[in-house]
Amino acid sequence: MPEPVAILVAVEQEERPALAESCAGGVDRVLEQSVHDARMNGVIAVGANHPPSTYDIAELGHGASLRHHGSMDPQPETHGQSGRAHEREFVRMWDELEPIGRDRSTGGYHRYAWSDADLLLREWFAGEAAARGLELTDDGNGNQLAWPADAELAGRGDAVLVGSHLDSVPDGGAYDGPLGVVSAFAALDLLAERGVRLDRPVVVAGFSDEEGSRFGIACAGSRLMTGSLAPDAALGMRDRDGLSLAEVLSARGRDLAAVRARPDILDRVSAFVELHVEQGRGLADMDAAVGVASAIWPHGRFRLDFTGEANHAGTTLMQDRRDPMLAFAAAVLAADEHAREAGARATFGRVEVLPGGTNAIPSSVRAWLDARAPDEASLVALVEAITLQARGMSRRDGTGLDVTPESVSAAVSFDTALRDAAAALLGGAPVLPTGAGHDAGVLSQHGVPTVMLFVRNPTGVSHSPYEHADPDDCLAGVRALADVLAHLAAA
Ligand code: GLV
Ligand code: MN
Ligand code: MN
Repeated sequence: MPEPVAILVAVEQEERPALAESCAGGVDRVLEQSVHDARMNGVIAVGANHPPSTYDIAELGHGASLRHHGSMDPQPETHGQSGRAHEREFVRMWDELEPIGRDRSTGGYHRYAWSDADLLLREWFAGEAAARGLELTDDGNGNQLAWPADAELAGRGDAVLVGSHLDSVPDGGAYDGPLGVVSAFAALDLLAERGVRLDRPVVVAGFSDEEGSRFGIACAGSRLMTGSLAPDAALGMRDRDGLSLAEVLSARGRDLAAVRARPDILDRVSAFVELHVEQGRGLADMDAAVGVASAIWPHGRFRLDFTGEANHAGTTLMQDRRDPMLAFAAAVLAADEHAREAGARATFGRVEVLPGGTNAIPSSVRAWLDARAPDEASLVALVEAITLQARGMSRRDGTGLDVTPESVSAAVSFDTALRDAAAALLGGAPVLPTGAGHDAGVLSQHGVPTVMLFVRNPTGVSHSPYEHADPDDCLAGVRALADVLAHLAAA
């Protein structure tokens, strides 16, 4: 007899009967429960006598599959245009992406660079480009670019890039990245429906390996393209199985010599627009469906290698140990303490312990610190304070600590003229900063005038299967993106 389990799902009021119906037969109780956290507007606890994997949690109340309950049905365009093709296309594209790289037990996505899921996503992108008569190119770094087939238009040298990425963090949400790519294609469809003539080439971009989930470096594709990541350094990056990017690319039949900066492409780009699900509650708190990014906090990933001596957990006296876990623990507590004090963010989300025995003192602990702060001086001070506290503990214990910055991103301020024009075009949309990194930040640092649009995320949860945006807000995002593209690319 399987253990009873409780599954918590947040659902809108009108979804509840559908949820109860879809649960009937599979669960023994459906309890409605109010929660104090105002972010959740309704929570239903489902007491089930089946293991959680029996249910597709995302299907019960989150993510793309809300359409099963009817709420992904697109609403009519509110601009007075008759066509709804872009809305149908949006839903179709979303449906097609939904199963790719999805873990059905959690509802989360595992879409890592050059994995089988990533190759399927690349094929999907190529299909969408072909369906719109666009000319697909690859910049050699794995970034996919879909150009207008009209050679005269494509060759003008003032292209407007629009897009995002399709890869994910481990067990990530459906929206981070794909929303920007799907919306880019749907915005092109909407511009066609509106009969807008584009005088500049609009190029849909799918950037490679934005999350850096496999090889550790965030925004590897856009960094390679802009030259801020050297090809040799990139090709030498290793994944958790010890495979280098060079080995992985070779196994996928890619040309290693093609991995390089592409100023020739970037010189033909006059602007980049990235739409992204918001990864906080800023827009929800302001009651706005769409907003415009002002800035990205400086942030970085730092690898901390703590070394000590493996020994017996039962026989080694506490004072005789060289246990690297303690300096790591000091670092975790310091990260929390100093980030709170500084109004910054610090996270240890990944740790590897060797040899990994319950009854053995570890010989080494390797952990990754993700640190972000409102300004660069605060970021440096934060990482120093965490390191200092950890070193204090490692001195006491006679253990070692090495800190290696793996990918550090400076503060980004997006092009103010573009930002203000976009906010005005969108009827005075809110302008807000973010602590999340994006390819838009990399291109902006490289000097490409860049604008980012955010789509409301009702709970603010991101990098999680519970990441969400309401269908109406997604379509509002598509309309906003089309408005901005028309402003940038139409006569
Ligand atoms: C990207 O999503 C990041 O900010 O980690
Ligand atoms: Mn992300
Ligand atoms: Mn993203």
